[in-house]
Amino acid sequence: MPKIKIAPSILSADWNHINKEIKEVKPYCGLIHVDIMDGIFVPNKTIDSKFVKKITTKVPLDVHLMVQEPSEEYILDFINAGGSIITLHQEAYGSIGELREKLNFIKANGAKPSVAIRPKTPLNSIKDVLDIVDMVLIMTVEPGMAGQKFMPEPINKVRELRKINPNIDIEVDGGISPETIGIAAKAGANVFVAGSSIFGRTDRITAIKELKRNI
Ligand code: DX5
Ligand code: ZN
Repeated sequence: MPKIKIAPSILSADWNHINKEIKEVKPYCGLIHVDIMDGIFVPNKTIDSKFVKKITTKVPLDVHLMVQEPSEEYILDFINAGGSIITLHQEAYGSIGELREKLNFIKANGAKPSVAIRPKTPLNSIKDVLDIVDMVLIMTVEPGMAGQKFMPEPINKVRELRKINPNIDIEVDGGISPETIGIAAKAGANVFVAGSSIFGRTDRITAIKELKRNI
């Protein structure tokens, strides 16, 4: 079973003091999760690669692109801005061939390729790229905003994927809290994104410890 990592999502942090916010959680987390929304793939729009460039932490940045058909140039901007893991959505491209091409591009440019699926997208839809990704992100809410309710159904995909691949990183994202993290962990997830259940609290360190205690 790969290493367990907590990935605080800066979507719920104070963007005006982003490096201070990250510094506080840094000793307790394995990744910093960076949500990028384009207003097309999902209704909201968030930060861009220029913002990501300003993040100074040494903790690896886990960039989740909720973006329609991101081009190589667009992806490269995030690698150059410091992204260590770049996650593309399966639903964002017209064909699996195009998705595979872009995942290979990420790898060729020195970052880790990862693929995400929405709650209702079957695991089967990514079977032809599993050989090239370092991580699979199973969404446990519809992508688009923080603070939504955890959906239990996608957890079956976590269980199924862990059975066929004991070493891959499996990330869950959406509604992860001390009440839900155990369900995902038991099914085989090892990377846990948490936005509002960390940055929505005044005591972030206690919040992370509570999450870890429930894994
Ligand atoms: C939602 C984003 C998540 C979000 C999670 O579309 O992908 O990363 O920040 O927020 P919480 O943990 O509050 O559900
Ligand atoms: Zn995310």
